[in-house]
Amino acid sequence: MGFLDIDNATKSYGSVEVLHKVDISVQEGEFLVLVGPSGCGKSTLLNMIAGLEDITSGEIRIKDAVMNGVHPSNRNIAMVFQSYALYPNMTVGQNITFGLEMHGVPKPERDKAMADVAKLLQIELLLERKPGQLSGGQRQRVAMGRALVRNPDVFLFDEPLSNLDAKLRVDMRTEIKKLHQNLGTTIVYVTHDQIEAMTLSTRIAVMNGGYVQQLGTPKEIYDTPANLFVATFMGSPSMNLIDANVRVDGNAVYADTHDDKGGEISLAFFEPSAGLKSYEGQAVTLGIRPESLTDVEGADQRSTHVEQVKNTVTVTEPAGSDTFVTTTIGGAECVGRMRADADVAAGRETTFAINMEKAVVFDPKTEARIL
Ligand SMILES: Nc1ncnc2c1ncn2[C@@H]1O[C@H](COP(=O)(O)OP(=O)(O)O)[C@@H](O)[C@H]1O
Ligand SMILES: [Mg+2]
Repeated sequence: MGFLDIDNATKSYGSVEVLHKVDISVQEGEFLVLVGPSGCGKSTLLNMIAGLEDITSGEIRIKDAVMNGVHPSNRNIAMVFQSYALYPNMTVGQNITFGLEMHGVPKPERDKAMADVAKLLQIELLLERKPGQLSGGQRQRVAMGRALVRNPDVFLFDEPLSNLDAKLRVDMRTEIKKLHQNLGTTIVYVTHDQIEAMTLSTRIAVMNGGYVQQLGTPKEIYDTPANLFVATFMGSPSMNLIDANVRVDGNAVYADTHDDKGGEISLAFFEPSAGLKSYEGQAVTLGIRPESLTDVEGADQRSTHVEQVKNTVTVTEPAGSDTFVTTTIGGAECVGRMRADADVAAGRETTFAINMEKAVVFDPKTEARIL
């Protein structure tokens, strides 16, 4: 039993089921991020927790009390939307305390709560202004203040940063993380941005097509994705996917593939599992993240399983702190992440280092991870 339990929850609109048996148990103080492409059902699930959509089957419980059918105002949750939905004719202060006033909280208490929240969010100097006189980031802060002031059991955020420009988005991300660290509130946060998911969450539910594809810590999701969808959705640039054949030689297991001149290459796996061995002689999809395909000097020095491949660089993209380099392995265009001053140029051959300790393997038919 968790603090917030989503128990086999499904949602249908008419005859169309858009959420299929979602099962997530959130502990008190967790920061759960629901991430996935547009239309995968994130907002629908969040709205079901909030009580803005009813639950077709299954149960949602908060502190063990069944919420199905409970009015949103009686769930002790607070929600922050992408559109801040502030009242334009009220001041910032009034916007923040309006909900408390509706709940009959006396003025001295409201003022105290408002002052605390304003201090926390550093909006003390804005309290007398109207929303129209605020920047996008300030409005977002006020919307968060309005939610915070109610001291809810659970905070729900639906893409709260998507209307902000890139720099502000990163700043606000840090603010939200700080807020969570300081207050320890239970948060469910929806985003389509995988970086936001990785940086903010204590756990991530990766969704696609109304299914939770994987539920785990950011590290679990990143290092051991359950399937090809999760592997390619999380991480930027995307994980490289290389066609290979499994070869077993005694205790050693190799991914056999070819370089960009058609020459055979054999990449030895680190700690091959029995599951992987059972694929002997079969085609698999080898997954190598860009940071595991580097220049030789840039390879992880602690790794005991680094393989080298001589290949031609097709494109270089200097990104300041790193240089991204494109090359072809096993017929697939792959992106490597090299040191900024790695000696590479388009059209020239270089030696790539592949960190096989981080390699993952998928069954090309079921798309499930094997190793
Ligand atoms: N009121 C509705 N009536 C019918 N279908 C809906 C309604 N709301 C959402 N949907 C459908 O449910 C699916 C999930 O939508 P949504 O939860 O908004 O996705 P996300 O927030 O992940 O982008 C989509 O296919 C969408 O078209
Ligand atoms: Mg949505």
